[in-house]
Amino acid sequence: MEIPFVNLNRMHEKMRAEFDQAYSRVLNSSSFILGKEVAAFEKSFSKFVGSSRAIGVASGTDALILSLRALGIGKGDEVLVPSHTFVASPFAISAVGAKPVFVEVDDFYTLSHTSMQKALSKRTKAVMPVHLYGQCADMPAINEFCENHDLKMIEDACQAHGASLGGKNAGTYGIAAAFSFYPGKNLGALGDGGAICTDDSELAEKLISMRNYGSNKKYHHDVFGFNSRLDGLQAAFLNAKLSRLEEMNQSRIDVASSYAQGLSEQESNHLLQLPKVRENAHHVYHLFVIQVNAEIRDQVLKELDKAGIKAQIHYPIPCHEQKAYSEQLPHRKMPLQKTEKLARRILSLPIWPYMTHDEIEYVVQKTSEILVKHGREIGR
Ligand SMILES: Cc1ncc(COP(=O)(O)O)c(C=O)c1O
Repeated sequence: MEIPFVNLNRMHEKMRAEFDQAYSRVLNSSSFILGKEVAAFEKSFSKFVGSSRAIGVASGTDALILSLRALGIGKGDEVLVPSHTFVASPFAISAVGAKPVFVEVDDFYTLSHTSMQKALSKRTKAVMPVHLYGQCADMPAINEFCENHDLKMIEDACQAHGASLGGKNAGTYGIAAAFSFYPGKNLGALGDGGAICTDDSELAEKLISMRNYGSNKKYHHDVFGFNSRLDGLQAAFLNAKLSRLEEMNQSRIDVASSYAQGLSEQESNHLLQLPKVRENAHHVYHLFVIQVNAEIRDQVLKELDKAGIKAQIHYPIPCHEQKAYSEQLPHRKMPLQKTEKLARRILSLPIWPYMTHDEIEYVVQKTSEILVKHGREIGR
């Protein structure tokens, strides 16, 4: 059986008629950049997230860059960010001229509170928690830390559409929150896209201007700006997909719970570690990441591949060890042993909405077989 890492066709086939209608609407209106479809999507997405405003931009990376820039973060400033994230999180900080200070993650793969304390300096201006893999970071603790030290919080919610903690949604904690609509995300466009959610109306107005050459009135440029606008077509597709986001997230949760059940025996045998879920968390499983012994991880990945299961690693090289940081840009170094160890142990199993029972069973069976075989070799 062939199990791709994600199968977007499975969900898109269900929505083909809605996509066709969306395409025709945009084509007929010629409203290709911003416009009515974008405004409608911004309204419905902010309602979904629970923020007062959503501002559509060109990508999740741009959502982070624009937020940092609009908040005045730049040269000489430091921003605390986990090293265990996609490189776009620290790249956005570097893009505005500030320094990412890499910190550790906790057992839930999100920003560690104790590590933040150690990383704090006089230059620290902001914190960027990342709700990695679909689960919220420890937001009450991070909130308190930011309040105590007068720091701005910009959430990287690019992997967490619909996630919540204690009933409060990802995207409603920080002064600004960035979402990505890269196609494989829980809410993905049919191309690139992103959004910033905020409750701060002054910030929202600034961002609306900044995404469009710093202009609210044609050929009048009051602030420095960019070309980072959401396309009408992508907004129309996103609107169609948003109406099914909860259903798609639930389907991911069901896949994750079948994986957890099916692999629990191997966890008891210490052959793998399943994802841990915070108390009161609504985890939306953008990714299903297990840990296996570092000595056998790469071999397990190869054998899964041979069995037709396209697992991946998110992420094989921690950000602080990427050449862009380790060899080029100066950055304040923190010991990050946990992050480095994780990079050698993690493995993401395929997950997408509407995976079938047979597909899930096959992944569970093959993963178990391969782990038992290699577990013996390392004396488990
Ligand atoms: C955690 C995280 N931050 C930021 C981004 C950047 O989003 P985009 O690819 O839309 O620029 C991504 C997307 O992969 C991500 O996973």
